[in-house]
Amino acid sequence: MRTQVGIIGAGPAGLMLARLLQLQGIDSIIIENRSRDYIENRIRAGLIEDWAADMLTEIGLGARLNREGLVHHGIKLGINGSLHHIDFKTLVDKRVTIYGQQEVVKDMVAQRLESGAPLLFEVSDASVHDIAGRPKIRFTHDGQAKEIDCDFIGGCDGFHGICRPSIPDGVLSVFEREYPFGWLGILAAAPPPDEELIYSYHDRGFALFTMRSATLARSYLQCAHDEDIANWSDARIWDELNRRMGGMRPLAEGEILQKSVTPMRSFVVEPMQYGRLFLTGDAAHIVPPTGAKGMNLAFADVLVLSRAMTAFYRSGDDALLEAYSATCLRRIWKAQRFSWWMTQMMHLFPDDNPFDRRRRLAELDYVTSSEAAAKSLAENYVGLPMDGR
Ligand code: FAD
Ligand code: DHB
Repeated sequence: MRTQVGIIGAGPAGLMLARLLQLQGIDSIIIENRSRDYIENRIRAGLIEDWAADMLTEIGLGARLNREGLVHHGIKLGINGSLHHIDFKTLVDKRVTIYGQQEVVKDMVAQRLESGAPLLFEVSDASVHDIAGRPKIRFTHDGQAKEIDCDFIGGCDGFHGICRPSIPDGVLSVFEREYPFGWLGILAAAPPPDEELIYSYHDRGFALFTMRSATLARSYLQCAHDEDIANWSDARIWDELNRRMGGMRPLAEGEILQKSVTPMRSFVVEPMQYGRLFLTGDAAHIVPPTGAKGMNLAFADVLVLSRAMTAFYRSGDDALLEAYSATCLRRIWKAQRFSWWMTQMMHLFPDDNPFDRRRRLAELDYVTSSEAAAKSLAENYVGLPMDGR
């Protein structure tokens, strides 16, 4: 098989890269090790930044997003039971859209398959070769060994993929921080407690009340990083959510449709390129979910990469490709800073001392009483501007 760009991974990064390239007349083949059903039902992030919602609409992915997505002009911060509004409309005049990552993935998969462009599911044993020269991707599909000969490889295979480990030792620097807690997330058949998201700081630990629709609540509880989900009966989850809501809003209970624990880490590799292999999204970086940046950063990376590849194919100029890593890392580090800041402000740390707790409460007081501080939160939360958009 021969293509211009071989893409490993059909998550938000891989599917979006393929679409942006397709719009510029650049061919790609996507290979994915999971089934279509699996990736379309994998529940993860849910919040789309201002510029990213505009981009999705412009590239033909807006129909369902604009019908079913929930547009929010603010969030609420809870501080031990008192509720404070951060109004994005007056602070920065931008919005965010709540629309599940798996819905974006469904829309992108449908669009790709309708266009007739190749997207292969359930491949196994993917490996990359000659990445500093003439790249090849080898894999097994339908029991047969296959090879893709390509100009570039999009390493869009997430944190546990094969692309990052295929880069020779010594090339990448790793910057990493683990957090001493995780999030227990649930999806419940219940109306969400507020029309906006509530990020609740509480002496028992953080809780986030978000949603997928008027009848589907999504909630998260700070828990131990190695929490055993078996210890969390539905009754215990509702009890803890109620306590951490602290009476700010009544909490409607309903059937818990899904529950899982996500560990939290901050992680970046530099550079995000080796030879003709370009790492994108979670393959190159992870943020703790408190700032809702994961999927949005994946979109930002592939927008930069698609522009660079377009410039290369149009004029042979590889300056933007050479600058790919540096261009992306400027945004990534700002998203890392914001996600870390939100995380440290909203969570309890096991080694907190009384000073840390007082300082955190002062920070929350500042953010909810100073327009300048709230504006900084809002500016980052809705997504920093994307150059050229
Ligand atoms: P992924 O979505 O991971 O896509 C990578 C794709 O590559 C996958 O489809 C995978 O199956 C495929 N793949 C992997 N290895 C191979 C291989 N060897 N061969 C072929 N294909 C391969 N972010 C938030 O902002 N808020 C959240 O609440 C949130 N919750 C999350 C919960 C979980 C459990 C996880 C893992 C992430 C969460 N994130 C969250 C982060 C967000 O979902 C990611 O940042 C986003 O999915 C990144 O997209 P991606 O395309 O880079 O990677
Ligand atoms: C969601 C997840 C987040 O981590 C966040 O900060 C906001 C929203 C969500 O799943 O809806």
